[in-house]
Amino acid sequence: MTLPTVTSRVDDLLARMTLEERIGQITQVDRTAITPEEVAEYAIGSVLSGGGGNPEPNTPTAWRAMVDSYVEASRRSRLGVPLLYGTDAVHGHNNVVGATIFPHNIGLGAAGDPALVRAIGRATAIETAATGARWTFAPTVAVPQDPRWGRTYEGYGQDPALVARLGTALVDGLQGDAEVIDVLACAKHFIADGATTYGTTGGAQWVEWWQRSYSIPNWRIDQGDARIDEATLRSVHLPAYHEVVGRGVGSVMASYSSWNGVKVHGHRWLLTELLKGELGFEGFVVSDYVAVDQLSPDYREAVVTALEAGVDMVMVPFDHTRFRETVREVVLAGELSEERLNDAVRRILRVKDAMGLLDGQEPALPHPSVLGASDHRALARRAALAGAVLLADAHDVLPLTGTPNVLLAGAAADDVGLACGGWTIEWSGRRGAITPGRTLADGLRDHLGGSLAVTGATAEDLSPLDQMAAEVGVVTVHEEPYAEGMGDTATLVLDAAQQALVARVAEVVDRVILVVYAGRPLVLGPALDHADAVVVAWLPGSEADGLADLLVGAAPFRGRLPVDWPAADPAPDAGPPQDQAPRWRRGHAHGVAG
Ligand code: GLC
Repeated sequence: MTLPTVTSRVDDLLARMTLEERIGQITQVDRTAITPEEVAEYAIGSVLSGGGGNPEPNTPTAWRAMVDSYVEASRRSRLGVPLLYGTDAVHGHNNVVGATIFPHNIGLGAAGDPALVRAIGRATAIETAATGARWTFAPTVAVPQDPRWGRTYEGYGQDPALVARLGTALVDGLQGDAEVIDVLACAKHFIADGATTYGTTGGAQWVEWWQRSYSIPNWRIDQGDARIDEATLRSVHLPAYHEVVGRGVGSVMASYSSWNGVKVHGHRWLLTELLKGELGFEGFVVSDYVAVDQLSPDYREAVVTALEAGVDMVMVPFDHTRFRETVREVVLAGELSEERLNDAVRRILRVKDAMGLLDGQEPALPHPSVLGASDHRALARRAALAGAVLLADAHDVLPLTGTPNVLLAGAAADDVGLACGGWTIEWSGRRGAITPGRTLADGLRDHLGGSLAVTGATAEDLSPLDQMAAEVGVVTVHEEPYAEGMGDTATLVLDAAQQALVARVAEVVDRVILVVYAGRPLVLGPALDHADAVVVAWLPGSEADGLADLLVGAAPFRGRLPVDWPAADPAPDAGPPQDQAPRWRRGHAHGVAG
């Protein structure tokens, strides 16, 4: 679908809005920093839940009540323009306990199936809208170049055409193909967020919030500098935006990162000339969380720079009073043209009009009980299975035949939190039974019954192992959940404790099947020497039991690597690992024809 042309409804409404109401419309505030009453008083255009921004209790019903309170308040403003409630439903409605958690994008890239991704978009739209939220900050259409980046798993892969196809499929699924947009999609982060050079993160240290909230020194690559020429920007990082804009994506989020030393949030050529001019994007650009503040120590200058560059809605997201007063001052002082402000408001109203928000035509919202519906969970199970990649199986030990005695070891084997990864219930995610789901252990129990022994997560836990007469060891290794720059890393090498676990199991079984739960390729080292077969499951989500179907042959492996798999860590000051010969190249899949 494409965004409708500007209707007289939009122009008429814009003409009736006061300066304060127009400023309110471009203001997006975190739910923790504003009350419904203030939303009504200041005619705020949007409220968001950041990662983990959940009501207490964190239930679908409580979410619906929370979101409804803000939307209903916005209808009480003088002109009653409904606000848009935004959230990061990036692999299902992942903040909400009980929602279906789909595999993260890197696994969907391995599956490479646009119809599957479209169906996931549809299911995610239904579960998101059921809580009242009709805007998700997805898809991420990054093209990750260096797996040391903590957001690698949010990208579909390193093939720009694949990223374009799958990003577009998600937009179709989310926004729907009816006349009225169901749930607004947000392509992010424009542009070249996945191209930043290792070691170039910086520049926000003087922003108190960033100092307080994140241990910036951990951040090495996220929000860094993409040191690439325009030809590379166009050939690698622009294709997905061409596609999603052509399909009518209603919003785009600017990237925290820089392009050759200039912050994207202040880059007029990128946000206005390229995205809105050349690509013809007619929706609105939203800034990222506290990103505008990073542009200058002088907040007034930062606000003018971002809005003049082409940011239309500002994810403030805390001190909305300071933001609104600053915009008022700079407009009255002529530092920000009123035409630019009106253009930003017009873009936002046009999208709200396309969502039926200006004429009461918005679609009926599903009931909160739809979250975690069995058909959605079945879809997630299918997706987890489709995204797993068989990396090696030198002695054809897979699929397991008969019902051999199997020893299952490793923390992720029976842990929903580790299978879901970041952006799940909490911003960074967490180990444990954080939300209802099924694990690889559940799937193997179903298939193998009593011939499965599930043991511990570390080599020390395995001491009773010697008495177990297991023929086959299935050992999972994993990454602890992380999000954004908190997942930046200097090394991809699997840690010693997990190496020891694999070695210990190998001592007492005949065959070892290694299953990797990670948001990116890992350098597996000696663990590879102990493994007869190697499977990467990526971050499969809340329905990981489907992986067992692959191990016992109830389903075939179909996934292919969406990224190169490095053989070793790059040198600290080197470029992306692609500079060295990978262990397995993008497209690799052991034994998969074609
Ligand atoms: C974060 C992320 C962005 C997310 C936004 C709202 O910092 O960069 O992807 O959509 O804030 O949570």
